Amino acid sequence: MSVAVVLVAAGNGERLGLGLPKALVQIDGKTILEHSLEAVSSFQPNQLVVVAHEDRVPEFQELVQNSYAGKFSVVPGGSSRQGSVANGLQLVDSALVLVHDAARCFTPAEVFHAVQAGLETSPCVIPALAVTDTIKRVSGDQVLGTEDRDQLRAAQTPQGFHTNLLKAAIAQSTEVFTDEAALMQSAGHSVSFVTGSPLSKKITTIADLGERTTNQRTGIG
Ligand code: CTP
Ligand code: MG
Repeated sequence: MSVAVVLVAAGNGERLGLGLPKALVQIDGKTILEHSLEAVSSFQPNQLVVVAHEDRVPEFQELVQNSYAGKFSVVPGGSSRQGSVANGLQLVDSALVLVHDAARCFTPAEVFHAVQAGLETSPCVIPALAVTDTIKRVSGDQVLGTEDRDQLRAAQTPQGFHTNLLKAAIAQSTEVFTDEAALMQSAGHSVSFVTGSPLSKKITTIADLGERTTNQRTGIG
């Protein structure tokens, strides 16, 4: 079955706090957008839709043009992640779709392949990792209890779907969810998972850059 990737890259990057859309921030000399396109390039989907920050569409278009060899489209994003996914999905005509956060810019291509393979038997597949911290349930400043870690997984992207089911679930949804797997589950679909990657950690704050350099960080690069 044909497969599309929708790369959502339209966020403001407010928590990163560098004054420009996160996908345009450079890490080790390349933008987060370009890093995220490396795995997509080696995965070789039938179709790529990049959802760009609405104020910077020409810049995104140029970056994708210069770093991605396959066929692609660039569309402006919405005000929420789910809105951006919906905008990207409008252009998808492949049977399967993998929705990926550009902010998880070091996800290995193997994870894309594993999610695609899972879609042979499931309507929705996400990559997820075991939780290593001890997780507490709290209320106010009180700890109410300790969760059973064996039953918990941290969700990552790319999240994979049968395109027609995801389109229908988004069209019918009245709520905003933090990921499309939650939206699919609320629409009654089963969701399965494959093993994710520690390399898929989302770049959210400056601390997530570790020792990497960014030319946007004062005094470095
Ligand atoms: N995203 C998007 N459209 C939005 C919001 C988010 O395409 N309106 C994308 C981001 O570009 C990112 C992914 O969704 O690749 C995950 O979002 P997040 O890590 O929250 O990124 P930002 O929204 O850019 O960061 P912040 O919330 O700190 O502003
Ligand atoms: Mg955000």
